[in-house]
Amino acid sequence: MLPERRFVEKSDKMRPLLFYLLIGICAADEGWFWHVTDFHWDFSYWTDQLSCNGMNISKPGAFGNQWCDSPWSLVEESIKGLRLVQPNVDFVLWTGDTVPHVSDSHLSNDLNKELVMNVTTLMEREFPNTKVYATFGNHDNYPSNLFTPHNSDIYNATYMIWKTWIDDNSQVDNFHKGGYYTVKIRDGLRLVAMNSNMYYTKDTVILAGHVPPGYTTPRAVRWMTKTFNQKFVDIVLRHSSTIAALHFGHEHHDSFRIFYDGEVAVATLFIAPSVTPWRYQLPGGEVEPAHNPGARLVKYDRQTGKTLDILQYYADLDTVNLDQQFVWTLGYSATAMYGVPDLSVDSMHKVVNSLSDGSGSEFQNYVKWYNTNGKNPADLCNALCHHVVMCGLRYMTEKPFQQCLHHSTHT
Ligand SMILES: *[C@@H]1O[C@H](CO)[C@@H](O)[C@H](O)[C@H]1NC(C)=O
Ligand SMILES: *[C@@H]1O[C@H](CO)[C@@H](O)[C@H](O)[C@H]1NC(C)=O
Ligand SMILES: *[C@@H]1O[C@H](CO)[C@@H](O)[C@H](O)[C@H]1NC(C)=O
Ligand SMILES: [Zn+2]
Ligand SMILES: [Zn+2]
Repeated sequence: MLPERRFVEKSDKMRPLLFYLLIGICAADEGWFWHVTDFHWDFSYWTDQLSCNGMNISKPGAFGNQWCDSPWSLVEESIKGLRLVQPNVDFVLWTGDTVPHVSDSHLSNDLNKELVMNVTTLMEREFPNTKVYATFGNHDNYPSNLFTPHNSDIYNATYMIWKTWIDDNSQVDNFHKGGYYTVKIRDGLRLVAMNSNMYYTKDTVILAGHVPPGYTTPRAVRWMTKTFNQKFVDIVLRHSSTIAALHFGHEHHDSFRIFYDGEVAVATLFIAPSVTPWRYQLPGGEVEPAHNPGARLVKYDRQTGKTLDILQYYADLDTVNLDQQFVWTLGYSATAMYGVPDLSVDSMHKVVNSLSDGSGSEFQNYVKWYNTNGKNPADLCNALCHHVVMCGLRYMTEKPFQQCLHHSTHT
């Protein structure tokens, strides 16, 4: 950027107007935004450790523990850290789940609101001149539930908290009704912040929300009811020409999926890893792999909304705890890692095809970053796991996904 600018300044008087016009037309209008999600702030981290899977963590780390949700220090330093890496962003996407994984008996309407309020205040402090587009997560409602009721008190209260960011009085009804809204990022480009509802205008849209449609893999679990999932996918397919990208959270892992209309890739849904390092341990024995806090910087085309690159940052929890100093480290640039010029849907289709070789470097990279640490997991994704992951990347609705699962793995 800098050398180019100097060149233009130096030749200021020598170049005809046409030169500048050409620069204006040729140079992509590139912008950046941060996407952070799933803080799951455990307000009891230093006392009762309510989120810590029933464990007694005798030496909880300064910035968190992999069995627990985020202490305030992680919430605060992670947001401060975004500003240190890149303060000049067009906006910040914050896709929900601020409330920790603790039972409803330890929460209340007022406490949930307070948690969202305090993180909002922090965001405002660290990004005072930047719009933050926030959405609800399934944990933010009280009682925590995937399908928040209509017209709840929490919608009305949260609207007051996020009002200055939304900055458009015409959205108050949408927000009160269902916790969703739409904002114009600039002429021709719009963001739709979803809760469980959505609607469209003729602008190009970036869709942001918490719970994604499709299947999380390798678990092969669908979050939405079959009917709602199908409806969601149908709407995206019907409006794919105006949808630039979808950015979601909820899964806590780094992933994506493609919407196909027949054989044609028409839209990409990117899933950002969580800030919380919390991992679950189910009574049946299933244990989630350990993962680090993450945040991503997204490079996009301001005119078309098209995704140009993702710079995925992470914090190695053991290291930052040892150093007593929180820092975001660049994990990867998606275009560099996958060898594509941008993250357009055509490029992402090529990425998916390159992942179909389970022993190839592309799939190994996908597996390495799934847990936001860049390391080979102890339990590598075997042939069956690879098969399930590929089905999840390509098929978002019940029948094709199940057909893919039960199709021979060719191994
Ligand atoms: C947790 O462990 C600490 C140190 O080992 C011990 O002092 C404390 O009593 C334990 N608390 C519970 C609730 O087990
Ligand atoms: C939220 O912020 C207020 C004001 O700083 C503070 O009094 C309160 O304790 C915070 N809430 C929690 C759960 O820490
Ligand atoms: C939320 O505000 C609207 C006014 O926009 C009001 O009609 C509705 O009753 C309020 N809902 C609750 C649950 O307070
Ligand atoms: Zn979450
Ligand atoms: Zn969630």
